[in-house]
Amino acid sequence: MKNINPTSTNAWKKLTEQRTTYKEFNLKQAFKKNPERADNLTLIQDDFYVDLSKNLYNEHIKDTLTQLAKECELDAAIQSYFYGDPINATEKREVLHTALRTPLHKADQRIKNYVQDALASKSQMFDYVNKVINGTQQTYNGKAFDTIVNIGIGGSDLGPVMVYNALEAYHNHLKLHFVSNVEGDHVEEVLKKINPETTLFVIVSKSFGTQETLTNAMTIRQWFQEKVSASAVGAHFVAVSSNVERAIDFGVEKDNIFPMFDWVGGRFSLWSTVGMSIALGIGTQNFQLLLDGAHDMDEHFKSSSFEKNIPVQLALLTIWYNNFMEAESEAIIPYTQYLQKLPSYLQQAIMESNGKSVDRNGNPVNYQTGNIVWGEPGTNSQHAFFQLIHQGTKLIPAHFIAFAKAKYNHPDHQQKLMANFFAQTEALMNGMTLKEVQQDLASSNMSSSEKALLEPFKVFEGNKPTTTLLIDELTPRSLGKLVAMYEHKIFVEGVIWNIYSYDQWGVQLGKLLADAILDDLKSKKFNAHDPSTQGLLKRYDSKLS
Ligand code: F6P
Repeated sequence: MKNINPTSTNAWKKLTEQRTTYKEFNLKQAFKKNPERADNLTLIQDDFYVDLSKNLYNEHIKDTLTQLAKECELDAAIQSYFYGDPINATEKREVLHTALRTPLHKADQRIKNYVQDALASKSQMFDYVNKVINGTQQTYNGKAFDTIVNIGIGGSDLGPVMVYNALEAYHNHLKLHFVSNVEGDHVEEVLKKINPETTLFVIVSKSFGTQETLTNAMTIRQWFQEKVSASAVGAHFVAVSSNVERAIDFGVEKDNIFPMFDWVGGRFSLWSTVGMSIALGIGTQNFQLLLDGAHDMDEHFKSSSFEKNIPVQLALLTIWYNNFMEAESEAIIPYTQYLQKLPSYLQQAIMESNGKSVDRNGNPVNYQTGNIVWGEPGTNSQHAFFQLIHQGTKLIPAHFIAFAKAKYNHPDHQQKLMANFFAQTEALMNGMTLKEVQQDLASSNMSSSEKALLEPFKVFEGNKPTTTLLIDELTPRSLGKLVAMYEHKIFVEGVIWNIYSYDQWGVQLGKLLADAILDDLKSKKFNAHDPSTQGLLKRYDSKLS
């Protein structure tokens, strides 16, 4: 991939010149001026309807942003991404999660080997999963498993737990639990709910060196040995890892280790054997549909013009707000409880990828990179933080995501949910002027001085930007497509910001210090630390006795 400082492009310069004008941009007027605005700024791809028109920009800015992508040679970068160049350069690795969902007959020669390996590991996983589901893969004493515990953290937890929750309507008889935090209480609360005799433990760790996962796995194995027996461990513990040797050292039987590949990053790995818990919970056919949906989005991303390309246009809008409109964050508001875990999943995917301040030449960047992502499902969030989006001082572009068709037949609920979904983006855009507030208060029996006092608090500035994603129905396929859409958005942003999106050196320092502090806590020697940390360590230590 070429290293192009985005600020050196003509498009960046144009966008910088224009940003002052666009700070005054008025959405309501833009719609009045251009009756075709909604049509022109909406992208449709089969079941995805993506309305970008309630954003603080217009086709002119859209064109300049698209020019920015071209000047940053996004086209060539997409080829490098899909065809296995080692674009994760600091770790010397390819970034080929897309190969995990590519059918063999569609695989380009350059990635055929990767696709073949992916298919072989998928078929090993599917065989095993099918046997657990149909009861032929049995417990140590010949019973069917009824419970699965996924032990993993970060990418080895967030993807599986997000998808498992999102596809609750597709769950089979197996009950899944997820243990991630290195918190004994978290482990204990899960162990309280399960019967070791009928539980399968899936240890998921790409490195098989993550402190949290190994600690949890050891505690759970110990508990299992006490409750059942050491000789039953082999039948009840499987591992997903790219470090097969470490998994064997831990005590997992070789046949029970499902390999994953170096060329798949942890936070993009739910499509691989890391998704084993998902496949166990929703079945292999549904898991395949999830992959197919992601592949649909891969094809759209790879082959659509930038102008009509959903991930490209979403990424460019993020860049517009982040680099030219000074927005710090972006909200993700799914109008379904099923996607409750989507924001936290995206926090890792987006912020671990693009939270970088050194460019691909190793120099500090002089522009903003990764933005902050947060959110919660609507309508709940309307009754929580929407006040700040409506009347606060911050610019918060938001993604509103909803599915037209509900899973169950409650038309009244669905209409109300969707009415709220549509109403919020309209309200955020339209706001409420002083005149409208006055009209609204006209019929009230307050005195005119009381009305005058209240008026300013009831004014909504409006002009708050939103992007609406209206998808036909939440299915394994559409979910796969949605997640892949965000994966490609992340990639495009990283290309334009000229950063490495696929490493995560920033999480190392905390890990090292935690190891050092662990030693200090054991030896009760705290003087190597700053005064604040020393005070905290001493206070903590005093509470232990
Ligand atoms: O904390 C960083 C990280 O390396 C993530 O990128 C990764 O998803 C997570 O830890 C878990 O890593 P592993 O799967 O190797 O246990």
